[in-house]
Amino acid sequence: MKIAVAGKGGAGKTTVSGTIARGLAQAGHPVLALDADANPMLGVSLGVGAEKTDLLLGVRQGIEAGEVEHEPTIEGMVAHFGADAPDGVRLVVASRLDVANPGCQCCGVSPDQLLRELEASHRTVICDLEAGIGTVVRMEPGNADVVLVVANPTAKALEVARRAVEIASDKAEVIVLANRVRDDSDLELIRAVLGDRELVVIPEDTVIAAADRDGLAPIDLDRSSPGVAALVQLADRLAGAPVAA
Ligand SMILES: Nc1ncnc2c1ncn2[C@@H]1O[C@H](COP(=O)(O)OP(=O)(O)OP(=O)(O)O)[C@@H](O)[C@H]1O
Ligand SMILES: [Mg+2]
Repeated sequence: MKIAVAGKGGAGKTTVSGTIARGLAQAGHPVLALDADANPMLGVSLGVGAEKTDLLLGVRQGIEAGEVEHEPTIEGMVAHFGADAPDGVRLVVASRLDVANPGCQCCGVSPDQLLRELEASHRTVICDLEAGIGTVVRMEPGNADVVLVVANPTAKALEVARRAVEIASDKAEVIVLANRVRDDSDLELIRAVLGDRELVVIPEDTVIAAADRDGLAPIDLDRSSPGVAALVQLADRLAGAPVAA
């Protein structure tokens, strides 16, 4: 299965991607987490740590600087532009390079193409997309099976979410996450824009904020806090019943 995570800048895409990836892995599923953001931070939310996450970006940028060898195959990219994250999650940084050589798989390939080409029969691929709707617009049917659209109770985030839902609905199953919900009025605001479709509610969570402050994975801080637990529950739903206790 392939899952893409979309939404406005700051909506919570990286938090959602990292926590669902870890949740899936803790339930026994092999997971490849793909960071498609030009400023890759998925490693931090996965629990790889800020320093190692920064090193991964360095490897990616090293291609541009001519210090790192190009990698012509998709699975080669998984091996060379990635790191092992906790619970066996494989993290791969596939952010777009400024000086891309379109003939070369590892730097010319766009993250959405990479998402399409990655083999997902034996693993779940979850991709933290760039902010906004650009990647969703470019996405072709089949690139991802499920698009998680992360909405927040703010006018701008909701407008991006509304457009993302509209565009992605033709291409994949869409699940909307109402993230950072504090109370019923937040939920009403989100419903007013997104209609009466199903919303997966992720409450505003002090554990997520604390994890962010300390550069930790929220799931390592407290798996049962309301926001984290809602994401773990969504991971279980996405994977069907957990295969491991
Ligand atoms: N449910 C939540 N409760 C509390 N804080 C949250 C929640 N979800 C996200 N945040 C906080 O919101 C901020 C943005 O989250 P995150 O980095 O995951 O968003 P993003 O969409 O990936 O942003 P960007 O577009 O910059 O990559 C972070 O400080 C994060 O800790
Ligand atoms: Mg992010």
